[in-house]
Amino acid sequence: MDLSVFVAGLPLKNPVLTASGTFGYGREAAELYDLSVLGGVMVKGVSREPWPGNAPVRVARAPGGMLNAIGLQNPGLEHFLMVDLPFLRQYDTAVVVNVVGHDEEGFVEVVRGVTGQAGVAAIELNISCPNVKDGLLFSQDPASARRLVEAARRETDLPLIVKVSPNVTDPVQLGHACREGGADALSAINTLLGMAIDPVRRSPVLGNRTGGLSGPAVKPVGLRIVYDLAAQVGLPVVGMGGIETGRDALEYILAGARAVAVGTAVFRDPFAPPRIVGELAAELGRHGFESAAQAWAAANPQAREAVS
Ligand SMILES: Cc1cc2nc3c(=O)[nH]c(=O)nc-3n(C[C@H](O)[C@H](O)[C@H](O)COP(=O)(O)O)c2cc1C
Repeated sequence: MDLSVFVAGLPLKNPVLTASGTFGYGREAAELYDLSVLGGVMVKGVSREPWPGNAPVRVARAPGGMLNAIGLQNPGLEHFLMVDLPFLRQYDTAVVVNVVGHDEEGFVEVVRGVTGQAGVAAIELNISCPNVKDGLLFSQDPASARRLVEAARRETDLPLIVKVSPNVTDPVQLGHACREGGADALSAINTLLGMAIDPVRRSPVLGNRTGGLSGPAVKPVGLRIVYDLAAQVGLPVVGMGGIETGRDALEYILAGARAVAVGTAVFRDPFAPPRIVGELAAELGRHGFESAAQAWAAANPQAREAVS
């Protein structure tokens, strides 16, 4: 089975990536299996300076998934460049750097800092984190999303993927703004804003009060948004949200995603990403496809010429 795909000119050996924030910088997984089996790794959000993240409690159970309010804790750009990137570039997998900032300048400096570094295959701008104060700033107003993407675009020739928020009325409008700003691709979905209440303490469970819902519960929302973005914005989409099996991955591809990312599933099964690569190959065969690209094209008839 030919699993290779392209996302905005970026060649991937297979369409299965790991979703940002659920895989760290790959170190723990690398003790379990060879990361080179993955199509790519979307690393934990990288900010200009180290971020401490939110006060505990930072995760909670939810039906069909989990809530998190980690708050983008990360050791910052310099640490990423000195320690994490050299580790990841030992592997034959596409490293996608997830970038986050408090403001435009914060985003732009990280984009500038990772551009030109050996081993960085693409950039994912996270404009959709619901767990930090300014996390949704750029998603709530398409004009400011567009300005941010333009500013990032000026700094890099790398494929620029923008992670759009599901916590807005019209993700397609946001997707259009990102495209106009110069995005090469979109990724979706980030977590959905939610809350858990502790009846004993009579207050929210999470220290941040609210958190992001992820896992199987959000898959129908992810499929709907990926379908709309793929059909209406005209950019390649990396689909995610509740993917636990190869069947889930195929559903996202048939909704229009060129590639997919596995997030919360790794907390239950650390081997989920390589398992899903194998399961996806079997699912494609079972449904009569000869390649992953063919499945995507089957769902996107207008694009058939482009992939054949
Ligand atoms: C604990 C946790 C941390 C996350 N951190 C990030 C992050 O740093 N940057 C980002 O863009 N998304 C982050 N996400 C969102 C995931 O990348 C993904 O978009 C979302 O969880 C939906 O996929 P899933 O249901 O497979 O987890 C995080 C999700 C979780 C559960």
